[in-house]
Amino acid sequence: MKEQFDFGYPWWISYGHLVVVVIAAAFLALGHARKWSKVPMLLLSAVLLWSTAAFVAARFVLNVNGRSAMPTQNFIPSGKGRVLDMGAGTGRSSIMVLEARPQTTLVALDLFGESYDEHFGPGASPQERLLANLKAAGVERRVTIQAGDMRQLPFKSAEFDAIVSSYAVDHLNRDGVQKSLAEADRVLKPGGELLLMLIAKDPWLQFTFGPLLLHGGTRGLPWWTSRLQEAGFQVVKHGMRPATLYMLAHSGSASEVR
Ligand SMILES: C[S@@+](CC[C@H](N)C(=O)[O-])C[C@H]1O[C@@H](n2cnc3c(N)ncnc32)[C@H](O)[C@@H]1O
Repeated sequence: MKEQFDFGYPWWISYGHLVVVVIAAAFLALGHARKWSKVPMLLLSAVLLWSTAAFVAARFVLNVNGRSAMPTQNFIPSGKGRVLDMGAGTGRSSIMVLEARPQTTLVALDLFGESYDEHFGPGASPQERLLANLKAAGVERRVTIQAGDMRQLPFKSAEFDAIVSSYAVDHLNRDGVQKSLAEADRVLKPGGELLLMLIAKDPWLQFTFGPLLLHGGTRGLPWWTSRLQEAGFQVVKHGMRPATLYMLAHSGSASEVR
């Protein structure tokens, strides 16, 4: 059925703060009944306030189990072409591009291995879960699902007009990042576009989850700019979205950073 997505991120990312809300509220009620002193009551009120606000931010601002919005309209401005999603997972980034650019086709590539299981847990086969979400979005006819490693892409050179990769390359170590960006540059046509979305240490993430969920998020814009340049890319735009650093780069073309 249309619109029934299951992107499979763990429940606690969206709803975990509610557990804290319930516990803090229960202790506040107990403290009120037993007339506890001001200090613990104030502390409990602060925890209740934070957990309520963090729940709203996690569920409705970060919204990892909902649709993802394109961070920039400058990605694939022609609106058409063949796109690769490196680390497609359960399809959130693929659907983001396919819906925003209805004349594109896309290859959804993922290793479907340990990292997939860590993020999305057990269930139907990874390919089936991905396909179910593509069908829910009504875009499945424009997609090919392919198992493969982004550090050694199973494609010929210059096969793609654009590549998207969201919250995937930043799971790799430095060597893995360098290999996958070099591969991205290889399989893109000259001047092809790469949209990277990376977990970023921003106020939203720090407020809701502190150091949790950061993985490669401490590397920052200069680090990623250097890796992209080493791989032959020119960064043409970058910016922040909640919990996200995005970078738009062109393969082998010279353009100014905005
Ligand atoms: C956090 S998920 C992101 C999924 C999706 N892009 C999104 O935005 O929701 C990271 C994905 O990268 C995949 N991945 C990790 N290492 C990979 C590799 N070397 N090659 C291909 N995919 C990989 C994992 O299997 C996982 O599905």
